[in-house]
Amino acid sequence: MTTFGLIGYPLTHSRSPEIFARLFREENLTGFEYRLFPLQSIQEFPDLIANHPDLRGLNVTIPYKTSIMGFLDHLSPEAQGIGAVNCIRVEYRPGKPFLSGYNTDANGFIESVRPFLEPAHTRALVLGTGGASRAVIYALKQEGIEYQVVSRRGDTPGVMTYQALTESVIREFPVIINTTPVGMFPDTGAFPDIPYEAVHPGHLLVDLIYNPPKTTFLKKGEQAGAVCVNGLKMLELQALGSWKIWKQPS
Ligand SMILES: NC(=O)c1ccc[n+]([C@@H]2O[C@H](COP(=O)([O-])OP(=O)(O)OC[C@H]3O[C@@H](n4cnc5c(N)ncnc54)[C@H](OP(=O)(O)O)[C@@H]3O)[C@@H](O)[C@H]2O)c1
Repeated sequence: MTTFGLIGYPLTHSRSPEIFARLFREENLTGFEYRLFPLQSIQEFPDLIANHPDLRGLNVTIPYKTSIMGFLDHLSPEAQGIGAVNCIRVEYRPGKPFLSGYNTDANGFIESVRPFLEPAHTRALVLGTGGASRAVIYALKQEGIEYQVVSRRGDTPGVMTYQALTESVIREFPVIINTTPVGMFPDTGAFPDIPYEAVHPGHLLVDLIYNPPKTTFLKKGEQAGAVCVNGLKMLELQALGSWKIWKQPS
């Protein structure tokens, strides 16, 4: 059996096994599996590798995208630039595991929104400052889209608070990206605290959340006539990006 999988904690609502089962089916691959490996602590990671010599690749999710980096032998330029890893390639160099870390979230994000980007979409508000936000910012920089980060905390220079988000600020930024978990299942009634009255049909609202498919943030955007994109395509594209990395010959 050739094994791939996901590490994180908890891993109760992961969509990754079904995405990879479909990929394996589409490529007529038998003897391939994608498993969930919930780790209560990142310190359990070396044992996971030692006990599963069949492992060839892992995805990494909350809360280990940053803490995993210290356990890897090599980091891609994206993983280094973003400061987070969501994909690990496992190779064996004479009998010893060699672990390379990648980040496929940034590319997954930008490719998922590219079909909706218009020439007027030159400035983006990025809500949240976690790992997903760093991947989004990396992609926006590469794309030449200006950005302003919004945080609950007002102590970081250059970062705006939600209190400072006036209607005129919302009108200045035609793209608004929710990288916070606010509105994610089961707390689906919650939404980021922004003045939705200023959202208009020229806006593109992107939510990285995919469960539920339409968050309250996106519903509010839709009511204002904005173009709305959820995180499902990004999820699929980051998985496809991982698969391409794992499939490369050694
Ligand atoms: N579609 C995909 O492929 C994909 C990929 C990666 C992540 N995601 C989703 O993106 C979301 C964030 O992931 P992450 O890894 O970046 O998570 P995270 O590091 O736990 O949190 C992101 C940021 O959200 C803000 N935040 C957290 N709780 C908040 C609250 N109650 N109110 C307002 N802001 C809050 C915080 O920023 P401040 O403290 O600065 O306010 C935090 O740093 C999750 O829902 C995840 O499922 C989706």
